[in-house]
Amino acid sequence: MIQAVIFDLDGVIVSTDECHYQAWKALADREGIPFSRQENHRLRGVSRMESLAIVLEKAKRSYTDDEKNNMAAYKNDLYVSLINELTPADLLPGAQSAVLGLRKMGIKTAIGSSSKNAPAILEHLEITTLFDAVADGNSIKRSKPAPDVFLLAAKMLNIPPEYCLVVEDAEAGVDAAINAGMMCLGLGAAQKHPRTILGAKDLSVLDLPAWVALRNTEIN
Ligand code: BG6
Ligand code: MG
Repeated sequence: MIQAVIFDLDGVIVSTDECHYQAWKALADREGIPFSRQENHRLRGVSRMESLAIVLEKAKRSYTDDEKNNMAAYKNDLYVSLINELTPADLLPGAQSAVLGLRKMGIKTAIGSSSKNAPAILEHLEITTLFDAVADGNSIKRSKPAPDVFLLAAKMLNIPPEYCLVVEDAEAGVDAAINAGMMCLGLGAAQKHPRTILGAKDLSVLDLPAWVALRNTEIN
């Protein structure tokens, strides 16, 4: 039985990839470090400081912890100025109707995101009230692929992990869902991940509420 669906935010509900890229790129240019859009893909689902460590892999020198904290703050200031421009028009195709359809069926909905900016992004998209719980980078120590953010979401919803379905677009996120003992629907780059129960390009090409309803009938 699927009793709850936990959505990753970046790449599932909204595409913030380009905002992350622009902000990391500005930092990398300032420091004279090569950084491409392809490398940006490696940062998906990964926490801010772990992302910085990946960006710094090509740096010519090592940096002190203070310098690293300053760099992360510089990137985040730029990123926040970009996400402040987000509006409901930036919701990814099919995302809002999937959440609304699930809620109508009595399925609990939550966000499970590594981002500390998740609450602000939800506000800009005007969808905060569509989720029964928001677990994000502010309340966990270990980010994906550790299961922590999804286990926290399940706990907030009071639903056992085995009754939760996660919707993810990043490899680290699919691994986090499986590590949490949950089922996972893979989108985009994660749609062919071998550990997903189902894969799709995005939420517009799949009727997620209908799929959940059918699966729950079959299990009964
Ligand atoms: C994830 C993104 O949702 O959040 C990552 O996929 C990002 O790319 C991570 O690094 C942390 O985000 P923030 O907003 O806390 O810097
Ligand atoms: Mg994602």
